[in-house]
Amino acid sequence: MNQDQLKQAVAKAAIAEIEPHLESDSIIGIGTGSTANFFIDELARIKNEFDGAVASSNATAERLKKHGIPVYDLNSVAGMEYYIDGADETNHHLELIKGGGGALTREKIVAAVAKKFICIADQSKKVDILGAFPLPVEVIPMARSYVARELVKLGGDPVYREGFTTDNGNIILDVFNMDITAPKQLERDINQLVGVVTNGLFACRPADIVLLGTADGIERLEP
Ligand code: A5P
Repeated sequence: MNQDQLKQAVAKAAIAEIEPHLESDSIIGIGTGSTANFFIDELARIKNEFDGAVASSNATAERLKKHGIPVYDLNSVAGMEYYIDGADETNHHLELIKGGGGALTREKIVAAVAKKFICIADQSKKVDILGAFPLPVEVIPMARSYVARELVKLGGDPVYREGFTTDNGNIILDVFNMDITAPKQLERDINQLVGVVTNGLFACRPADIVLLGTADGIERLEP
């Protein structure tokens, strides 16, 4: 199986996980990225079994709408059972790095609301220690240089993602070579920096289940 086939297989596995629990008024939180896109395409097949979705990015909202799946503003929904999204890395504790696609802040907000965060990824995303993938940090534009200097003090090498603006109108610093042996503490430390909107560590609110597409089938990680 190639990587896209693994992503599609894991998207189908997520559908199998949630479908028995869906009700006609269910709202599903949906992430961003190529794996989330496979999930949206599979979700469209069962769109009559739930009410609609909350999107973590404009791109995801567009894809959902193209499939005829109603998209709700997060503020208009009382809550949601499931958030389904990909990841750039996961460790064995279901702590993640996300934000390769730049949607980390809205992803973190929707994940915070959902009762259960099911992360879907191909096997290449599983690591022992987070940090080979550069850690995305969303920053208010005028704070870019200040935050970059502070991230250097925390031990990282921040690189400005040139030509990219988030859906929230902000910039991204991708931080290379960061020591992420204490993900929860680092997530908090970076979020304390003035000008940071949030960072791509999902450690304080990790996934509840990680489904990994592997050549031998679906691997399931749970706490
Ligand atoms: C989007 O901002 C990211 O958090 C994605 O969820 C993550 O980068 C995974 O993307 P892929 O499924 O395309 O690998």
